[in-house]
Amino acid sequence: MEEIFEQANAVLEEIKASAPTTNEEIEQFRIKYLGTKSILKDLFGAMGKLPNEKKKEYGQLMNALKDAAQSKFDELTQSLGQSKNVNKEIPDLTAPGFDVPLGTRHPLSIIKNKMIDIFSRIGFVVAEGPEIEDDWHNFSALNLPADHPARDMQDTFFLSEDKNWMLRTHTSSVQIRVMEGQKPPMRYVFPGRVYRNETITARAHCTFHQVEGLYIDENVSFADLKQTMLYFAQEMFGRNVEIRFRPSFFPFTEPSAEVDVTCFVCNQKGCPVCKYSGWVEIGGCGMVDPAVLENCKLDPKKYSGFAFGMGIERITMLKYQVNDLRLFLENDVRFLKQFVSAQ
Ligand code: PHE
Repeated sequence: MEEIFEQANAVLEEIKASAPTTNEEIEQFRIKYLGTKSILKDLFGAMGKLPNEKKKEYGQLMNALKDAAQSKFDELTQSLGQSKNVNKEIPDLTAPGFDVPLGTRHPLSIIKNKMIDIFSRIGFVVAEGPEIEDDWHNFSALNLPADHPARDMQDTFFLSEDKNWMLRTHTSSVQIRVMEGQKPPMRYVFPGRVYRNETITARAHCTFHQVEGLYIDENVSFADLKQTMLYFAQEMFGRNVEIRFRPSFFPFTEPSAEVDVTCFVCNQKGCPVCKYSGWVEIGGCGMVDPAVLENCKLDPKKYSGFAFGMGIERITMLKYQVNDLRLFLENDVRFLKQFVSAQ
């Protein structure tokens, strides 16, 4: 009987003497003396076996034990909360948070969206077409004669032996799809991926992206085309750039031209971007050939229009001075990270 008093007194001494410091140690203390399976529970349980005259004394001792354990625990947790050094596990809720790394759009998406935005402000809307095309939409309707070099195996990824199916080589195929389906006025841009069977180098790839534009209505003239190209160049590269048209040839436009802008990097003083010529090429364009309108059942005597096509990679390379086309497809985060603030 005296034993149980001794045991309880020993536990009391133990509680007073214990000095846990870390979170972990304090938790052990709590489990041992205050938890549902604590030593104190066992000692309390022994009360029933004591003779009645001892119960009061024992009960007081038990209360002293419980109070000692509880106040020690309170004291420990309080001091822990105040002293930052003792406990490294309780987070400092006032500390500034970690930076959340910002993702970024791909540079080609940034420029594509910018191009769409620029043209949408003058009434162009987006239309898209399939990347797998038939001969009619990719070539024939666009006035490309059967023996045109662009149809050659070297340029086109054909998908069927009869060469009727292929990966589109340009977004001009979407012109045909749009013109076949509706009546003018129509003012569209066609962004999308195109494919050409070319050797991959810093300047050429087997897949790249274009934004094509098409405007068909009554009385659309070359002056409208020039103004549209000037507007685009200035919105994209800066208000003080100028443009020039060089005569060119595309089977589906007549007349046709290549568009250059004054080098916005060096202001025509000469630099590697413009190869010291003062001008950089941004795309091809022209008045839609009457034969193409006829192919789409539009009356060329009533309607006229212009079309243009630009490479998104090319515009992006000029805008951000990227010198290797392959970077766009490698997904190297060191490259992609540089465009976080560009969007
Ligand atoms: N389709 C031409 C190309 O891929 C570009 C172009 C489009 C030219 C529209 C004129 C008019 O090179």
